[in-house]
Amino acid sequence: MLCAPPEAFERARVLRAELERLNHHYYVLDAPLLPDAEYDRLFQELQSLEHQHPELASTDSPTQRVGGRVLEAFSPVRHAVPMLSIRTETDTESTGAAAFDARVRRELKLADSDPPVAYLAELKFDGLAINLRYENGLLVCAATRGDGETGEDVTENVRTVGQIPLRLATSSPPAVLEVRGEIYMKRADFLRFNERAQAAGEKILVNPRNAAAGSIRQLDSRIAASRPLSFFAYGLGEVRGWTLPETHAEVLEALTGFGLPVCSERAVLFGADALAGFHARVAALRPELPFDIDGVVYKVNSLALQETLGFVTREPRWAVAHKYPAEEALTTLVDIEVQVGRTGAITPVARLAPVFVGGVTVTNATLHNQDEIDRKDVRIGDTVIVRRAGDVIPEVVGPVLERRPPDAQRFILLERFPTCPVCGSHVLRGEDESVARCTGGLFCPAQRKQALLHFASRRAMDIEGLGDKLVEQLVDAAIVRTPADLYKLGVMALASLERMGEKSAVNLLEAVGRSRNTSLGRFIFALGIRNVGEATAKDLARYFGSLDRLLVADEATLMNVPDIGPIVARSIVAFCQEPHNLQVIDDLRAAGVSWPEGEPQGVVSGALVGKTLVLTGTLPTLSRDEAKALIEAEGGKVSGSVSKKTDFVVAGAEAGSKLEKAVALGVPVLDEAQLQELLKKGVLQ
Ligand code: IVH
Repeated sequence: MLCAPPEAFERARVLRAELERLNHHYYVLDAPLLPDAEYDRLFQELQSLEHQHPELASTDSPTQRVGGRVLEAFSPVRHAVPMLSIRTETDTESTGAAAFDARVRRELKLADSDPPVAYLAELKFDGLAINLRYENGLLVCAATRGDGETGEDVTENVRTVGQIPLRLATSSPPAVLEVRGEIYMKRADFLRFNERAQAAGEKILVNPRNAAAGSIRQLDSRIAASRPLSFFAYGLGEVRGWTLPETHAEVLEALTGFGLPVCSERAVLFGADALAGFHARVAALRPELPFDIDGVVYKVNSLALQETLGFVTREPRWAVAHKYPAEEALTTLVDIEVQVGRTGAITPVARLAPVFVGGVTVTNATLHNQDEIDRKDVRIGDTVIVRRAGDVIPEVVGPVLERRPPDAQRFILLERFPTCPVCGSHVLRGEDESVARCTGGLFCPAQRKQALLHFASRRAMDIEGLGDKLVEQLVDAAIVRTPADLYKLGVMALASLERMGEKSAVNLLEAVGRSRNTSLGRFIFALGIRNVGEATAKDLARYFGSLDRLLVADEATLMNVPDIGPIVARSIVAFCQEPHNLQVIDDLRAAGVSWPEGEPQGVVSGALVGKTLVLTGTLPTLSRDEAKALIEAEGGKVSGSVSKKTDFVVAGAEAGSKLEKAVALGVPVLDEAQLQELLKKGVLQ
């Protein structure tokens, strides 16, 4: 047998250890230590060393993570300790937590006067359960749950998961340590993967859970290697040669110490109310989590008490899964209709057979635009997956192709709606635009209604009480055609409308009256110029100081305003050249709408000029709007998402993924007191 020189053995050992350490920092701690190119250099050195001296090959080498072997079938693996399932609390309300706690206390024969039971609360990850077997620190086998007694050997695929250590990070590993946990795919990884697959004309993954499970059950490990998978450890299987700690919380700590990823959203809690509190807190956090969960899991924290409680059939008495309402469901796509927005954008809307998802009955879901319909290949008559995460508008994820009826129909927007269904004007789609638009402008009642709602909205003219039902009636009865008409309304005309008493009519007129005194920024925003959002409107107001200066500005002048590019500049000029728009502005001024005007400020001043901040969580005293107003008053910008360009993240209680991202990107994080200091001085001491 060939024998590599001792230096080669030593160098390979050092490289493996170093690459695994870098891997852990990159995948688990999300804090890379070296640039990718440096990592690649070390990786290639190891690869060529192993190539020169095949006897150096070893299963814990990071070079084994890239996949390669193609199996005929997965071999069965008998679990040394059965992989149990977990009882599900079907009551998705907080009483579910109370029912579990009551059961545990009864089984443990605790009296009401006894202290509360300590639990460890975790998230219930939505992926694929896996058992990792480490012998003397080396990953020797990874198996699926199967029927709980026997699973499938998926070691080759699991080795490709960057977050799973091939060797435990300890110099004195247990003789046997089986780690149990979930392989899953982060939502962002799922979306990015699908975008690339789509671009390459390859198959798209249906949802993150199927993506994770499907990837691990591939016979060709190169496929698994190409999928961005993650892992969380949450328990143990067989253990030999290791003294167990006293609590489950300590087990998880120890696993972290061994280099395994454990989710940080976990807590030791006492009694039922604390569990219910965790369930509610996580529900609020759920849309912000970077991965899908379908509930939380409560486990009795003491391992001794777990032993006492034992099992019923295949489920431990010491653990329960407390679910949330499902966020995805299947239903039939009955038809596709369209909605006309404020700028004439025609949005296809799916009409669905009613389905209960995410806690509500859904009958409509957005389909965004024609490209999206084509990309997802959804057809009328299809069975579709509907998703409703948090409070966002429900969306159609995609069709279930196996259930496509032969007469399913494609939807081609411009064929079905060559003219606007509301006003009959032509519908056009610009060459480089994904959106089709009604060309009717404010002639189109649908656009007029949306424009009025926008004009009256809280961040624009703030006319309280002017909601969509009322706008609908006012436009349909031809009482209001333009925003200026709102200022001519009288009690009599209003009170004659359905569901409008005299009291509400008076209140509305008062709100309209109050809105006459406004600011230039609000007024510009209220006009609803395409591509001019709230922040841009404020920038314009500050830059020009008066409306008349804005109305005559040409594209070049507009592009001097910070952050305004050619597209926005063109929209503004187009708006200001339209005689109809100038007439509405004149009418509004004649109706008494006014704002303080000032000198053009050109480049803005303030402690935070040029700085972008992100707010997350609840601040102790300031509301989100107050903090935003203070920052903007100092010339700063408030953005909704954290990126490398973010200067500061201001975090309050229960801050979520934005805070994590700030930490990962090294963006400075401030509390409210530090924000106040920054507002005063522009720098932190
Ligand atoms: S503990 C004895 N903890 O839920 C308890 N399971 O049937 C065994 N799951 O497929 C499971 N998150 O993969 C546990 N934090 C968590 C979990 C979790 C997800 C999955 C598990 C299994 C199912 C339970």
